[in-house]
Amino acid sequence: MTTDTTRDTIRDTDRSFLFVLGSSRPEGNTEMLARAAAAQLPAGIPQRWVDLAQVPLPDFQDGRHETDTWPVGENEEALRRATLEATDIVIASPLYWYTLSAQTKRYLDYWSGWLGVPGLDFQERMAGRTLWGVTVMAHDEEVVADGLVTTLHHTAAYLRMRFGGVLFGNGSRPGQVRDDERAMIRAKTFFQHEAPLARFPYEKPAEEG
Ligand SMILES: Cc1cc2nc3c(=O)[nH]c(=O)nc-3n(C[C@H](O)[C@H](O)[C@H](O)COP(=O)(O)O)c2cc1C
Repeated sequence: MTTDTTRDTIRDTDRSFLFVLGSSRPEGNTEMLARAAAAQLPAGIPQRWVDLAQVPLPDFQDGRHETDTWPVGENEEALRRATLEATDIVIASPLYWYTLSAQTKRYLDYWSGWLGVPGLDFQERMAGRTLWGVTVMAHDEEVVADGLVTTLHHTAAYLRMRFGGVLFGNGSRPGQVRDDERAMIRAKTFFQHEAPLARFPYEKPAEEG
């Protein structure tokens, strides 16, 4: 990472991106938009793509306050490792009922479990990394996706992460997002802007550095 206070997000050589796909169908609009944005990342920045439909997680069981430990499944372990290995996590979820898809939400619920794993230091290790969002919706007015944006922003604030914002696209049938010219233009520069440290609305603006 660069050490100056105005960190340039795109030139860092030790960045690595994890794209978490949360649609219920393959090759959907959200993945297309995420891939359009990812195509602009420098070739030297590794990208890992995980489709939650291919790595299904059982419903999250809240065992945080119990003494017995829950068995960790293969998929959970793979996702946990991939999450911790990335400097940048991109949640690519279609807008479902004005928020994240169930698959995506379940993945984030597992973060709560990982926060309590002794020795994992999930919270400390996630601090300073960057969370981004990509979503496609049928509705034309992006304001209806405020719930999704708030969920991702506050998740980043809780973990003391940076938040890069949400790249929006419009479409219903698979492929329709390609006709959303504005989204495709925004995708070209989405990852180039600096992601500020996320802070809850009641907190003072974050000091960088
Ligand atoms: C379960 C479900 C819920 C949806 N809820 C919304 C919604 O709340 N608002 C909206 O604009 N579109 C909604 N849609 C439409 C999808 O966001 C839209 O079809 C999007 O292109 C799907 O992305 P995908 O192709 O990546 O799966 C919903 C679709 C499904 C299947």
